[in-house]
Amino acid sequence: MISISSSPLSLMSLNISSNFNTSSSLQYPFSQKQHQPSKNRKPKHHKIACTSNDTNQNSPKEQEQKPSPRRNVLIGLGGLYGATTLTNNNSLAFGAPVPIPDLTKCVIPPSGAPVPINCCPPFSKDIIDFKYPSFEKLRVRPAAQLVDDDYFAKYNKALELMRALPDDDPRSFSQQAKIHCAYCVGGYKQLGYPEIELSVHNSWLFLAFHRWYIYFYERILGSLINDPTFAIPFWNFDAPDGMQIPSIFTNPNSSLYDLKRDSRHQPPRIIDLNYNKDTEDPGPNYPPSAEQQIKDNLTLMHKQMITNSKTCILFHGSPYRAGQAPGKGHGALEMSPHNNVHIWSGDAKQPYREDMGNFYSSGRDPLFYALHANVDRLWSIWKTLGGKRKDPTDDDWLESEFLFYDENKNLVKVKVKDGLDGKKLGYDYQKVDIPWINSKPKPASRRVQSKGKLLTPRKFVDKFPIVLDSVVSTIVKRPKKSRSSKEKEDEEEILVIDGIEFDSNIEVKFDVIVNDEDDKVIGVGNTEFAGTFVNLLHGHNHENSTNKKKNIVTCMRLGLTDLLEDLKADDDDSILVTFIPRYGGDSVKISGIKIEFAN
Ligand code: C2O
Repeated sequence: MISISSSPLSLMSLNISSNFNTSSSLQYPFSQKQHQPSKNRKPKHHKIACTSNDTNQNSPKEQEQKPSPRRNVLIGLGGLYGATTLTNNNSLAFGAPVPIPDLTKCVIPPSGAPVPINCCPPFSKDIIDFKYPSFEKLRVRPAAQLVDDDYFAKYNKALELMRALPDDDPRSFSQQAKIHCAYCVGGYKQLGYPEIELSVHNSWLFLAFHRWYIYFYERILGSLINDPTFAIPFWNFDAPDGMQIPSIFTNPNSSLYDLKRDSRHQPPRIIDLNYNKDTEDPGPNYPPSAEQQIKDNLTLMHKQMITNSKTCILFHGSPYRAGQAPGKGHGALEMSPHNNVHIWSGDAKQPYREDMGNFYSSGRDPLFYALHANVDRLWSIWKTLGGKRKDPTDDDWLESEFLFYDENKNLVKVKVKDGLDGKKLGYDYQKVDIPWINSKPKPASRRVQSKGKLLTPRKFVDKFPIVLDSVVSTIVKRPKKSRSSKEKEDEEEILVIDGIEFDSNIEVKFDVIVNDEDDKVIGVGNTEFAGTFVNLLHGHNHENSTNKKKNIVTCMRLGLTDLLEDLKADDDDSILVTFIPRYGGDSVKISGIKIEFAN
């Protein structure tokens, strides 16, 4: 862990201002209480992209697209695919639900596969609407570390049969894996928007899409072994017993095995849910003891599920609507642990961290479906945690649609709104302990300012954009402070880091720390650790590729209410935000930072 230390700037007066802050004269180190914004300058209110009710301001104008004339024609004709209408909402205005992919426009994405792979599914023009399945009893998805030999044998058999299906059978394992490639690295365009990529990550479609994905995967497996009660296992990485690759996935002779995994991360190695891959080299601090790693993992889970997920946008991610470019902003669970679990599992010796470490290939590892079963389970748990933890009610989310082939090879159109209750889909999860509920982080102890030398020099900035080529700190003004508990319940204080821009071909991770002091090392177990930004590879253009490098522009939101309360900083006028690049920082640009309030 890089430590953050006090800066020699204590004698230097900084005039801190940015596009998003009022100006204030201050010294560092300082007491947070002393940040007084200057009286004669009004805060500038910039409409920035990462607002929770944004419709289209987050993507550059040229990326927005009106529905094509072709789409109008199709609507007139009752839909390209005959059996269905295009959307259930005939509005052509912006702010429409994300439509199904246009299967006629599926392309080979710039995926990074050594040989470009075609991940388009078999074509069909007959699309049927989803109907709830009938079932006698719920399929119960078990924790992968708790299953017995019979269960293993059953899953092994089902997957064997799935792997044995011909490649062009939409139920085959190879087609199942390609679903992820098509929906996640640019294989699809939105129906009616021939220039607009359909990509489900980094947005509020993340949880809903993956729920449907594994639903059909599970149904197909069940039908192949003629057992409608078959339920896939979940990787219970949020509990100590489940914090390693479950052993059912590690037998090289089974169909659940995948060779392309990090050989260092085999059982009994404990997973690092906040994995900083470049600091892995064994050293005095790495790997931490199993006990410490488990503790850190539990604190991270608490942070992401509770502190950073008090509103629906914080948890689900940014709105993403028809005609918009994807990539508006991750929800807390998608960002971490989800992205970190992918990177930790993928094989560091493969060119692009295949299989799990790259979107194009991750569906090839059976572990992927167990990871996503747990993500899905955590979504259900989140809704029981109270407060404002409820799913979005926006029609553009509820009515967004996807296409999947079912166990009878029918192409089925599903809506987000039909997948909100797993029990209606016929499944539930085995009940196991949720140990992170009480794993609150602790403030790093306050202490007398260190006169020691800088361990990690940091840069102070007062202007954005910034590049994360080193540890960077800035002051962010708080529009409101000392709020009543009622106000805090009504509205969450959110740190918005906006216009995070980088090349999609590189892996990126940086941590965000709030109000760190002197040379204290801040880890995931500390309250000051507000969150981490992690980008998983979306694709990789080959050197000779004609594809231009593709920049991602996204944003990040972090919950501040509990954090500032726990740091006893609730009456302060401003906060100190520090970015610690972990990898890929050189190529990350951040265009602004501010605090907003949302319910
Ligand atoms: Cu579509 Cu785990 O990612």
